[in-house]
Amino acid sequence: MIIARSVDELRAVLDAQPGTVGFVPTMGALHIGHRSLIEAARKENDCVVVSIFVNPTQFLPGEDLSKYPRREEADFKICELSGVDVLFYPDVRAMYGEDEVRVTAPDVRGYILEGASRPGHFDGVLTVVMKLLNMVRPARVYFGKKDAQQLALITQMCKNFFMNVAIVPMETVREKDGLALSSRNIYLNPAERQEALKLSAALKKATEMVMRGALEAESIHVEMIRILEPLEVEYVAIVNREFESIAEVMIGNTIILVAARVGTTRLIDNVWM
Ligand code: PAJ
Repeated sequence: MIIARSVDELRAVLDAQPGTVGFVPTMGALHIGHRSLIEAARKENDCVVVSIFVNPTQFLPGEDLSKYPRREEADFKICELSGVDVLFYPDVRAMYGEDEVRVTAPDVRGYILEGASRPGHFDGVLTVVMKLLNMVRPARVYFGKKDAQQLALITQMCKNFFMNVAIVPMETVREKDGLALSSRNIYLNPAERQEALKLSAALKKATEMVMRGALEAESIHVEMIRILEPLEVEYVAIVNREFESIAEVMIGNTIILVAARVGTTRLIDNVWM
């Protein structure tokens, strides 16, 4: 595995390699969710690039940037064992200069749900993903459905800017008990870890309701809130793939999302149906 710390190093390696490139952008603290993306990239491409970069511009003031988990050694090992060819591991100066052009998220879709709780967050995500895609120039890039709104906005950016890359959406990987894997789970103490199961339990309930034909968004919402209590719920939303609120679940075109705080840790989860 080659570790590239600058864009020049990265391009030198990639320019010398003839096949297709599959790319998995991450912020590190890698877990099995990330690994499923890497494995898919490994199967579908000649060369696999993973980036690890804790992107400062997507953290709002007061968010967990400085304490975001950093696990360089373990992450390098995981990449190596997963068959990654090139690990791109830039520092902030390799990624950002002074007074730069930035990408801005769309006014509506970028500022609802996650964007309402974290205004400006998606500007940072889109800007760094644009940079990374231009640096790596992959044939395919892999993103988790766990971050559904991020995936939708990146897909829209690639479309709006006519970018030539195939976006591969990947299923959410969960612990046996249902908890969606997240780098932020390590902040949870054992009691909070237990409380955190309310997110996946609420989504499971929603899925059961839909399965038996109870499609009305309002009743699903009420049931989910009941299960989530007494967590501090930031939102429960039932939207179509365009992220517009809908009154009734449409099978094949619905995402049900939840964001809640467990102690001081903010968790998100969703189901696609
Ligand atoms: P990060 O949170 O490290 O996630 C990297 C990728 O892993 C994202 O596409 C995310 O959706 C996916 N992922 C996270 N948990 C997952 C799970 N349980 N199952 C499947 N996939 C999962 O998302 C980011 O980093 C950043 O915003 C980034 C896109 C790298 C831009 O900085």
